[in-house]
Amino acid sequence: IYGPNRLNSKGVNLNINSQYQPLMDEMATFMDKEYHAKPLLAFDVADDANARHDVLCPFDRKVKVGSVQWTSREQAAKAVDAAWSAFPRWDATPVAERAAIIRRLAGLMESHLAELMTLCSREGGKLLTDGVDEIREAVDFCRYYAMRAEELFGGATTLPGPTGESNELMLGGKGVFAAISPWNFPVAIFCGQVVAAAVAGNTVLAKPAEQTSLVANRVIELLYEAGMPRDVVQLLPGDGPTVGSVLSSDPRITGVVFTGGTDTAQIINRALAAREGAALPTLIAETGGMNAMIVDSTALPEQVVTDVIQSAFQSAGQRCSALRVLYVQDDVADRVIEILKGAMDELHVGDPRDLGTDVGPVIDEDARKGLMAHIETLKGEGRLVAETRLDPAHTSHGTFVAPVAFEIDGIDTLEREQFGPILHIVRYKAEDIDAVIDSINDRRYGLTFGVHSRNESFANAIAQKIRVGNVYVNRNIIGAVVGVQPFGGQGLSGTGPKAGGPHYLLRFATEKTLTINT
Ligand code: NAD
Ligand code: ALA
Repeated sequence: IYGPNRLNSKGVNLNINSQYQPLMDEMATFMDKEYHAKPLLAFDVADDANARHDVLCPFDRKVKVGSVQWTSREQAAKAVDAAWSAFPRWDATPVAERAAIIRRLAGLMESHLAELMTLCSREGGKLLTDGVDEIREAVDFCRYYAMRAEELFGGATTLPGPTGESNELMLGGKGVFAAISPWNFPVAIFCGQVVAAAVAGNTVLAKPAEQTSLVANRVIELLYEAGMPRDVVQLLPGDGPTVGSVLSSDPRITGVVFTGGTDTAQIINRALAAREGAALPTLIAETGGMNAMIVDSTALPEQVVTDVIQSAFQSAGQRCSALRVLYVQDDVADRVIEILKGAMDELHVGDPRDLGTDVGPVIDEDARKGLMAHIETLKGEGRLVAETRLDPAHTSHGTFVAPVAFEIDGIDTLEREQFGPILHIVRYKAEDIDAVIDSINDRRYGLTFGVHSRNESFANAIAQKIRVGNVYVNRNIIGAVVGVQPFGGQGLSGTGPKAGGPHYLLRFATEKTLTINT
């Protein structure tokens, strides 16, 4: 089921090439294009060669995808002025108008699918299948939040009260939101944050990740084409600490919606709290995970391995939801590991534009070095279980890390989230299951979690005890669907509310109660 000749469960070749061919033909027209982006602000920004940074392709570092002019501190401060001035007008704009712009963006992203996917691949190293999912999720966020905004902001809710009095509850925007996003979902998460804040009536300063600002720039250009005023949503590409600190220290920033590392969320939290004279801020932070899966002796080993491979290695393990620690009951561990080794041998690591590739590059050299240091440490301790082969013919020019699995003693031995294709395996004894759950909960991350068991009461009991945001039973633990699996964690993994869920927009809103003595 892996590699160039993918077969379905009945052994029939899926012929993925023919399904993707028309899209690939269209993508070819964008493959050699060099992109140049600069801050998209309410005012004109002069070209500045000194502020320009090259964007290199993760699967071939010799290829320049384009360049991005980063936002200066002065430009960021001026952008806050513009967002602050625009807020009352935008908040008073009927929600139907705001939602219509967001729906038009969804349509434009669909009609620019090939271009956006090409950028996701060349700038972010995404596989074609991941690229389709990425744009699909962004489109879903747009349509879901537009629908929810019309339900929530469409009019006041009448509340019961004593005779001679009317009571109404109404929702409005909060003010100016900074939307700070990561590189691993450069369209979906970037776009989800921006459209949620804007459709709820807020003005938005969007700070994309340094690594993926070109695709973010195209999305904001499409948003303007859809009718979004330039002072309502502005794009501030640039260095995280520089642009981020201007935004999180300005007392006019009402809220920050952030997705990224837990350490960065804590820096932002401290900066917001230190502001003099600012209103109490809203911080929505979706952060990292140390995601585990428990497999008991009743589980089907073949299904387990399929789901483990997807959960740990799809998107080169660069999903916050990805599986990091697999707990396998000792009586079935050897069997599961044997099948896993076979499956890992079949994985193809290489150019993400090739349909036979299962695992693309990691985002950049810093990421590769960090992952390799962890891999070398565990190899040095003799913990290696399995490793996919890297073929230099396909990987020598890029930042590739081969999928790898190690046996470790427990989740408590891991210092931090390893954001790449590294799986840790722990054998446990049936009588120790409570201690296993305690040790996972004690890490205080709480994003995704999986359980594989044909014993329904075992699976249910674990699902109740585990403190995470998203629990998956007898399937993989990645790829939450908007409106179906609202996504987000707890503890060190995030503040909530859940992205793509019915309560998300409420955190971007103020509530006002109007009581009239009639
Ligand atoms: P990161 O924290 O390094 O960067 C995220 C964003 O924060 C970037 O735009 C960056 O420029 C900005 N930033 C950096 N320093 C800043 C500062 N001092 N002030 C303000 N902004 C600053 O994270 P990353 O490497 O881009 O993404 C990977 C991380 O994101 C992983 O930990 C992953 O688990 C997490 N993630 C979480 C979710 C989720 O939904 N929970 C989803 C995707 C990624
Ligand atoms: N929403 C993404 C997933 O579930 C992060 O994989």
